[in-house]
Amino acid sequence: MLIMKGFLAVLSFAAAVYYSGGFGSAAYKRPPPRETLFRPLLDALEDDDGTSPQQVHISLSGENNMRISWITSDSSPDVVYYGTSPGANTRSANGTIDRYDYLTYVSGEIHNVIIGPLTPDTVYYYRCGWISSTEFNFKTPPSQFPIKFAIIGDLGQTGWTNSTLQHISKSNYDILVLPGDLSYADFIQRLWDTFGRLVQPLASNRPWMVTQGNHEIEEIPILHSESFTSYNARWVMPYKESNSSSNLYYSFEVAGVHVVMLGSYTDFEPGSDQYRWVQADLNMVDRRKTPWLIVVVHAPWYNSNEAHQGESESVDMKKALEDLIYGARVDAVFAGHVHAYERFVRVYKDKADACGPVYITIGDGGNREGLASKYMDPQPKISAFREASFGHGQFEIFNATHGLWTWHRNDDDISVASDQIWLKSLASISACHDITA
Ligand SMILES: *[C@@H]1O[C@H](CO)[C@@H](O)[C@H](O)[C@H]1NC(C)=O
Ligand SMILES: *[C@@H]1O[C@H](CO)[C@@H](O)[C@H](O)[C@H]1NC(C)=O
Ligand SMILES: *[C@@H]1O[C@H](CO)[C@@H](O)[C@H](O)[C@H]1NC(C)=O
Ligand SMILES: *[C@@H]1O[C@H](CO)[C@@H](O)[C@H](O)[C@H]1NC(C)=O
Ligand SMILES: [Fe+2]
Repeated sequence: MLIMKGFLAVLSFAAAVYYSGGFGSAAYKRPPPRETLFRPLLDALEDDDGTSPQQVHISLSGENNMRISWITSDSSPDVVYYGTSPGANTRSANGTIDRYDYLTYVSGEIHNVIIGPLTPDTVYYYRCGWISSTEFNFKTPPSQFPIKFAIIGDLGQTGWTNSTLQHISKSNYDILVLPGDLSYADFIQRLWDTFGRLVQPLASNRPWMVTQGNHEIEEIPILHSESFTSYNARWVMPYKESNSSSNLYYSFEVAGVHVVMLGSYTDFEPGSDQYRWVQADLNMVDRRKTPWLIVVVHAPWYNSNEAHQGESESVDMKKALEDLIYGARVDAVFAGHVHAYERFVRVYKDKADACGPVYITIGDGGNREGLASKYMDPQPKISAFREASFGHGQFEIFNATHGLWTWHRNDDDISVASDQIWLKSLASISACHDITA
């Protein structure tokens, strides 16, 4: 009876199974894409009373400050009340209000308030706009190791996104890092609002540090010639705090980790603003203060999936920046764009190199476009693990020398640790000191 049931289950699955090819050890039957969740969320939008804060999310703003961002459909005060015990929001801070237009869409009031200085590793309670509004809370990251990052790209807003977010919410992470492709609104601006509502439970509770992907460009020739309008208005990152002139690339430091967030769809050639900024930013890194150095970018520079091969944002950006990244002894480069998971060994110029970064593609958040399931055959030697399944990554850094990377697959509604590797920081490997590219 059991066998029969199992057999029927396999039969009913068969139509939906994708085979990744060239990868034997993971006999996992990949389920089909799940539906987009915007309908129930749009219903919620219709219940909006106009001045209640919605789409609340937080991000680091320099050392010991937090940026609180939220939207109200109508005009409302631009103030955050906060404190370290529930109900006692004794401190307050004011900020700025922005709005943007996109074709016939006019956004709500976008509020950004920076609060601080805050104590590390401490829970804060806060209210946006009104002392009587819903109280949220967040925990500030620790000032020392250990620290845990949740990393996930190409999130979207489907049933799979929901599953991924559920798993991340149980991981006790300190900071979420998103290598681009957030809402998959794809020109329909209300889908940015539904995305903001979907991620609010997590994004209001831990800092979310994001960079942008191709789905954030949203430029339409003649009709809307500006790029990244919605992204830049809704997801303001600490670029001024890191001496960058653009919200599209910036860096931040937390508990001994320096993280550089790059823009795949912004000039990166030598001489460009971004190139000069990365060069200056990497030059300023003090590995005694931040022994770990991480880079995050949307389009992967190393990729053995058939999806997105040969694109300029990957090939040309790698050509322009790989020497800088290698010369700075970056420990790991995280990317999205390809809707699958892949981990490379340490590489430089397509060859294994003990002093190069580990390249990881983590574009498997669960967006509506589904998985990228075709891989190049044979698997390149420098590709250590690859699989087209939804999931997320966790990078737990224990101290100046040891970090543990784990990829968690959504299997289907359960999170299963499916790839794991210890990394040693390059700052701690003397053979990698003083080598220049
Ligand atoms: C901050 O915002 C509140 C509410 O809008 C307002 O009453 C207060 O005057 C503002 N404070 C400053 C310094 O702008
Ligand atoms: C998200 O997943 C949880 C747990 O599986 C479920 O209870 C909830 O209804 C889902 N939310 C949506 C919007 O589908
Ligand atoms: C920004 O530039 C100023 C002036 O050059 C410098 O003092 C400061 O340390 C820089 N900060 C960061 C985070 O790069
Ligand atoms: C760093 O953490 C790793 C993993 O927990 C441990 O094995 C190692 O001894 C630690 N190193 C130091 C210097 O504490
Ligand atoms: Fe993408």
